[in-house]
Amino acid sequence: MAEISEFQDRLLSLGLARVSEAAALASANLVGRGDEKAADQAAVNAMRDQLNLLDIAGVVVIGEGERDEAPMLFIGEQVGTGNGPAVDIALDPLEGTTLTAKDMPNALTVIAMAPRGTLLHAPDVYMEKLAIGPGFRRGVVTLDMSPSERVSALAASKGCSTKEITVCVLERPRHEAMIAEIRSTGAAIRLITDGDVAGIMHCAEPAITGIDMYMGSGGAPEGVLAAAALKCMGGQIFGKLLFRNDEERARARKAGITNFDRVYTRDDLVTADVIFAATGVTDGSLVSGIKRETGYISTETILMRSKTGSIRRMLYRAPIR
Ligand code: FBP
Repeated sequence: MAEISEFQDRLLSLGLARVSEAAALASANLVGRGDEKAADQAAVNAMRDQLNLLDIAGVVVIGEGERDEAPMLFIGEQVGTGNGPAVDIALDPLEGTTLTAKDMPNALTVIAMAPRGTLLHAPDVYMEKLAIGPGFRRGVVTLDMSPSERVSALAASKGCSTKEITVCVLERPRHEAMIAEIRSTGAAIRLITDGDVAGIMHCAEPAITGIDMYMGSGGAPEGVLAAAALKCMGGQIFGKLLFRNDEERARARKAGITNFDRVYTRDDLVTADVIFAATGVTDGSLVSGIKRETGYISTETILMRSKTGSIRRMLYRAPIR
């Protein structure tokens, strides 16, 4: 076993793209088949196989769940050949299992890698999230503000009317009051049924996606993945863990979290340079979904490095064997 102290993000990035591509290709035959579990399992298996080919000493910090509930890619699982840099891995082999099963937009395979000890070990609880794209003063919007105050502050900073702001929100009963308050400002709302990693990434490219801000609660692990993406694309995210019961607090303690009221910024969630890859499973505004033509299958992957701010969109075409 030869651990290397340098991250080697440039070298590893193509390998990371292969990992997310493999997961997407594996779930291809399950798009629109109504079976969330089978689609997820196929993506998990493929992601793990590819990850284990990489020359890294990797540890899964955001994964499929605790060791007793996830046989593969569980939190704490060691991945890679062991010959290479010590890294943390955050992954969601299929972000939007229901989107995949129903062939709805924006299902992605997602993975991020950073030096060991630099990704928050977020427990599987909810997180209150707020995100905006690049180019704004730090803290122009905060979690302390009400939803309408956030819309007004962002509009003032952009020099536009609140009517010209679009907010992305997960469509959930728990968000009804927030949705009503946002609407009272005149802002538009893009409701999504699932997939808040994509929802948050949309804020980084408002000219393409039409989304200025994301708010609402979703999975905390997805919050770390979204922070990794925004660290590469630019933009701000704030997150606060939400606990529904003592069992969830115990889960957070186990993950090493002691301050339950902390508001995490993007750079608290991901404290060092990170590489990030996501491949489209179904069509979306960030990347296209899996495509087939006679004898071939193709994918589109977004591959990013925070150190350089580089963003690649890579098309991959593989013969069907
Ligand atoms: P899955 O891919 O595991 O189905 O998660 C999708 C998702 O929509 C996430 O993007 C989001 O953070 C979370 O579920 C929201 O949780 P809930 O469905 O409980 O509101």
